[in-house]
Amino acid sequence: MLELPGLIDPHVHLREPGGTHKEDFETGTIAALAGGFTAVLAMPNTQPPLVDSASLELAQLAARAKARCDYGIFLGAGEGNTSAASALAPWACGLKVYMDHTYGPLRMQSLPALIEHFQRWPGSRPIACHAEGHSLAVVLAMAHLFDRRVHICHVSTAVEIQLIRLAKERGTQVTCEVTPHHLFLSKSNLPALGSGRGEVRPRLATPEDVAALWESLEVIDCFATDHAPHTLAEKDGEQPPPGFPGLETALSLMLGAVNEERLGMDGLVLRMHTNPQRIFDLPPQRESRIEIDEDHVWEVRGVELHSRCGWSPFEGMKLRGRVRRVYLRGQLAYEDGQALAPPGSGRDLISTPVPA
Ligand code: NCD
Ligand code: ZN
Ligand code: ZN
Ligand code: ZN
Repeated sequence: MLELPGLIDPHVHLREPGGTHKEDFETGTIAALAGGFTAVLAMPNTQPPLVDSASLELAQLAARAKARCDYGIFLGAGEGNTSAASALAPWACGLKVYMDHTYGPLRMQSLPALIEHFQRWPGSRPIACHAEGHSLAVVLAMAHLFDRRVHICHVSTAVEIQLIRLAKERGTQVTCEVTPHHLFLSKSNLPALGSGRGEVRPRLATPEDVAALWESLEVIDCFATDHAPHTLAEKDGEQPPPGFPGLETALSLMLGAVNEERLGMDGLVLRMHTNPQRIFDLPPQRESRIEIDEDHVWEVRGVELHSRCGWSPFEGMKLRGRVRRVYLRGQLAYEDGQALAPPGSGRDLISTPVPA
């Protein structure tokens, strides 16, 4: 039995408020526990988006009632909420800026508003950025000019990881995450996935990009799932929304990399626990730990996952290593497929003091 600290996923979409047919704070945090995560950071591209105190409170209320693992909630950067955002900083695990088009209405197209967010965002937590290609160069420049910390979400290409490496070398305050799907899937998987199910932002990249990510592991601070559930009806429908679920497959995929000696176990823990905790300034979850049956081989079947979306881009893959038990702050919260932590037992890691 392998024992690890509770994993922390700094990038999940739990779809509350407004998208609970895809996921909610309960199903999403059960999926998190099943995947070995004891804390998740939830994104603000909900309906309504989390851009002011009223919308943030909607998400907080739902989370407080339903969450079964610990969590933080991101605030969204809008074009008209620069002062509201900085005032709400103490309640958010970070400010999320969408520089490029993706799922949901949040998108930063105004350069003056972007500058104002970078000028005003206070405190120690980073500005997390969906910033692909040219947009990445813009937010790296902003971080440098305004001396702010940026965390780059779901890096997917060779040129992006190269730019982040250079920025780090020059002392820019930048950290980044890569998803398991950008490490294990490429464009070459698209025919088998089908065009709707294969939709994700950033898009699956070339095999050369995937190789460049693996060759740049030292630049990658976190593995984040970007768990982005949409129903199969939506993915197979007329206008398939982008996004893959990932909470329940991430650890087994990364353990596969450990098994193949592409990654050390220390490197896994660093990127799935230690660095997310440090980067987002989360309180230590001292008694949160997981037990894994290392040799257990299982086949991914979407219908068997806990996420409400009911599918996986890794359908049919045989993965090694399965979570047996999860202890959340000392309490047995999950065992062999069953969530034991009651709804509401998850804590907000940001706005309430968590006893050590
Ligand atoms: C995400 C979603 O569905 O919310 N989709 C995705 O393809 N990654 C949005 C995002 O993270 O960009
Ligand atoms: Zn994104
Ligand atoms: Zn996302
Ligand atoms: Zn087993």
